[in-house]
Amino acid sequence: MTVGLTTRVLAADAAGIDVAARTLHDGGLLAFPTETVYGLGADATNGVAVARLFAAKGRPSFNPLIAHVCELADARALAQFNDDAIRLSQFWPGPLTLVLPRLPGCPVADLATAGLDTIAVRVPSHPVAQALLTKLQRPIVAPSANRSGHVSPTAAAHVLSDLSGRIDLILDGGTTPIGVESTIVACIGPQPLLLRAGGLPRSDVETALGHALGQHETTAVESGEAPLAPGMLSSHYAPRSSVRLNATRIEPGEALLAFGPPLPHAERVLNLSPGGDLVEAAANLFSHLRALDAAGAKAIAVMPIPSHGLGEAINDRLARAAAPRD
Ligand code: TXA
Ligand code: MG
Repeated sequence: MTVGLTTRVLAADAAGIDVAARTLHDGGLLAFPTETVYGLGADATNGVAVARLFAAKGRPSFNPLIAHVCELADARALAQFNDDAIRLSQFWPGPLTLVLPRLPGCPVADLATAGLDTIAVRVPSHPVAQALLTKLQRPIVAPSANRSGHVSPTAAAHVLSDLSGRIDLILDGGTTPIGVESTIVACIGPQPLLLRAGGLPRSDVETALGHALGQHETTAVESGEAPLAPGMLSSHYAPRSSVRLNATRIEPGEALLAFGPPLPHAERVLNLSPGGDLVEAAANLFSHLRALDAAGAKAIAVMPIPSHGLGEAINDRLARAAAPRD
């Protein structure tokens, strides 16, 4: 039913944001920029809208969504904050998602949290996301605005190529500044757990907490048990081309995703960051993967990328892109 819509693209100015808020209020679906990646938003309190969102994404319905809110006070109406969660809320607004126990009166549709008794909440800093949330005065659930299994969109054109005809509206707010999804930390037990490396480096989180983060055991995810962060399923970020990591030379016919000074002899090269800057590399990651994929590269060789700072999230996404498909 969502297929066959005419997808409008509007500039993310005051008029566009007005239309967008009305669209969400009326149960529609729209893509909007956040500081991390574009989100595909629906009114979190409208179960039918959330169901349409799953259909538009082609997402397995067990995969719960992040509820985006304006500020900490709004998040506290949805979820239970322990001391660690309060401490980590210093990073809001920003690229951090907290998974917390869901409060009994939480108005978010059960479908959005896949029936779990926890909820993922985030306060985005992007001015367009903030303006939309302020206007709507309700939480917005928003997965990344790509078809399930594709890489996350960092520009309106990426959203259009994945979701045209399946959603009502795209608010074009330019390229998203961070370029990888939010860091996800669960504060539901005695020790906070890192569920997904992302736009906020682990070291910032650990400094704020005063101790190391626990690491979620991903084997439970792969063994098909109820996943704690199902986005961690190994082949989640798959481009069509095959991806080869830590390349130190180019094989015939391979395109190169470079970092720093590029390897010689590649026919087609895109550089994540010629100067070796991980922040710049994160911002370029998904658009460069998409571009090499769209150019029909049979295989993409990726140069080694250091794993500190945003490098942890970059290497995580690349490992998923390189994972064998089912
Ligand atoms: O940067 C971001 O986080 C973007 C922007 C749009 O905010 N959103 C995003 O959403 O990446 P999505 O749906 O693509 O990824 C959210 C991840 C999924 O892996 C999901 O399984 C996990 O969060 N998640 C959501 N609720 C959860 C919960 N209650 N417990 C554990 N994991 C949860
Ligand atoms: Mg996603």
